[in-house]
Amino acid sequence: MAQKLTVPAVRSRKVADGMDPLVMVTAYDAPGARMVDEAGTDLILVGDSVAMVVLGYADTLQVTVEDIAHHTAAVYRAGPSALIVADMPWMSFHVSTEDTLRNAATLVRAGAQAVKLEGGRRRLPMVEALVAAEIPVMGHIGLTPQSVNAMGGFRVQGKNAAAALNLVAAAKALAHAGCFAIVLEGVPDQVAAMVTRSVDVPTIGIGAGPDCDGQVLVFHDVLGIEQRIRPRFVRRYADQYSDGVDALSRYARDVRSGAFPSAEESYRLSDADAESLALYGAS
Ligand code: KIV
Repeated sequence: MAQKLTVPAVRSRKVADGMDPLVMVTAYDAPGARMVDEAGTDLILVGDSVAMVVLGYADTLQVTVEDIAHHTAAVYRAGPSALIVADMPWMSFHVSTEDTLRNAATLVRAGAQAVKLEGGRRRLPMVEALVAAEIPVMGHIGLTPQSVNAMGGFRVQGKNAAAALNLVAAAKALAHAGCFAIVLEGVPDQVAAMVTRSVDVPTIGIGAGPDCDGQVLVFHDVLGIEQRIRPRFVRRYADQYSDGVDALSRYARDVRSGAFPSAEESYRLSDADAESLALYGAS
């Protein structure tokens, strides 16, 4: 088994320093975590995207700390070498630092080595409190899906000079507050490159172009399990939805035709036991 990746090891992964880009993928259960880990990814994100790709909600606002803890525990039980990062759901880090610490501790006790939270400078007190409590924090700025109502939809951010400079300032403030890495979501690639150059912690992009220090995608998007929406930044490496429908259709056909199960797929009494059973009137 590969050695477990640590937070300090992730923190030093700047591509500008000659390091390999970080690879992060989401996972929400044990088989998914085993697949992601065996593929050699560096980090597993138990994202609040579970709300949309697993639980069927239209946005990420519906999941709770208990939901993320439940999924984090399943990922943890798979024993991955990848670093497990759990997403702090909406309203789990907005009320008070005490509440934030209690919620993050629930995720750490479920198996997370770090937590991720969305937002810029407004979240600095929460980031500082978590870091002071020895809980590593990953920041997340740009298109922050928990702000869907405030943003008026899932919209690319940092699209003019002032907004871009705001993102640079937010990233610097988060790094200064102690974030060990920062997710940049849904920003123009020149802006992501500028943010990446401005901070000494790695940036991990999603819809942020090639110049980040790493990339993250959602498990169901990479594998083509989620097909209803396909953002521009998603590259599908498989078509598991179609493969799954095809396999399940063949199973249904075999059940209906009697081709499943076969003798090899069934258990049988020995001839002697079958005979004595027959004596009782069964055959
Ligand atoms: O929840 C999630 O999957 C995320 C990624 C999109 C970064 O936050």
